[in-house]
Amino acid sequence: MNIKKNVIVITGGAGGIGQACARTFKDQPLIITDYSQDLVDKTVKQLSDEGFEVTGISCDITNKEDIKKLTQFVSKTGTLKSLIHTAGVSGSAKDLKKVYTIDLVATELLIDAFYELAEKDTVAVLMSSMMAHTVPANKAYDEALANPQSADSFDTVCQHVNNNADTMYNFVKRGVQLLMLKNAEKWGAKGARIVTVSPGVIETPMALKASEEHPERMKMLKQATPLKRNGQPEEIADVVHFLVSDAARFITSTDILVDGGVLQNIKKML
Ligand SMILES: NC(=O)c1ccc[n+]([C@@H]2O[C@H](COP(=O)([O-])OP(=O)(O)OC[C@H]3O[C@@H](n4cnc5c(N)ncnc54)[C@H](O)[C@@H]3O)[C@@H](O)[C@H]2O)c1
Repeated sequence: MNIKKNVIVITGGAGGIGQACARTFKDQPLIITDYSQDLVDKTVKQLSDEGFEVTGISCDITNKEDIKKLTQFVSKTGTLKSLIHTAGVSGSAKDLKKVYTIDLVATELLIDAFYELAEKDTVAVLMSSMMAHTVPANKAYDEALANPQSADSFDTVCQHVNNNADTMYNFVKRGVQLLMLKNAEKWGAKGARIVTVSPGVIETPMALKASEEHPERMKMLKQATPLKRNGQPEEIADVVHFLVSDAARFITSTDILVDGGVLQNIKKML
């Protein structure tokens, strides 16, 4: 009998949180994808050497043709158990359009493309950020964030971010949550789930870069965290693993905050 593989796809699979997520799936076939083939090849080799069942393909998530190649690769490999979307850039990218396109527009492209592969019990887990929770609900920009590909959306969001890429990051991560909420009914009709995870400060290459750029801010965040430490990628991966599992079968259309408790203290400071 030919049993089709039920695969876990991880975008940003070469990154800190992406790799940690991969390592929680010892018993399931993995597809690692990231921006460059070199990064993908290195990660696939490393995970294979550690005993994981893993293949990979490069994909620039802002490129529709690349996403098509990725979904075709997934279809050839098996059925879709989960899309774990961790690819992204922080405000360190400096360029407002780049942050908007990679973190928000590409997230919508992936949700739409992977919806075609989703079936009963498929789970999409998208990385948002605790910083998304610092952006209040507002009709003027929420409509734009929830429709990032519409002609005026980028300009509308730009009017609220003060030409600051870190602020744009906070806004687009709110947008990721709005996209998740917008798609929950559609995914639910297939018996599929869609959720976001909002990490606090997690010690990955992304956070280390932010530490170099804003050492005082990162020190302040650590002090403001009730647990008095940053998070580790494994602490996000364990939550993602749970969300993908059958134990989370009634969890959809929601955000899960994994921030060591810092958000409540940040809100008091704002
Ligand atoms: N580390 C943190 O403190 C933190 C906090 C909150 C949210 N997050 C979010 O978690 C996710 C993972 O972050 P991380 O810390 O693991 O970062 P990371 O930089 O270690 O990994 C991100 C990965 O995304 C890939 N990527 C970037 N642009 C891409 C593109 N256009 N196409 C394909 N891949 C691309 C990079 O190559 C990299 O491997 C991100 O969405 C980030 O915003 C991280």
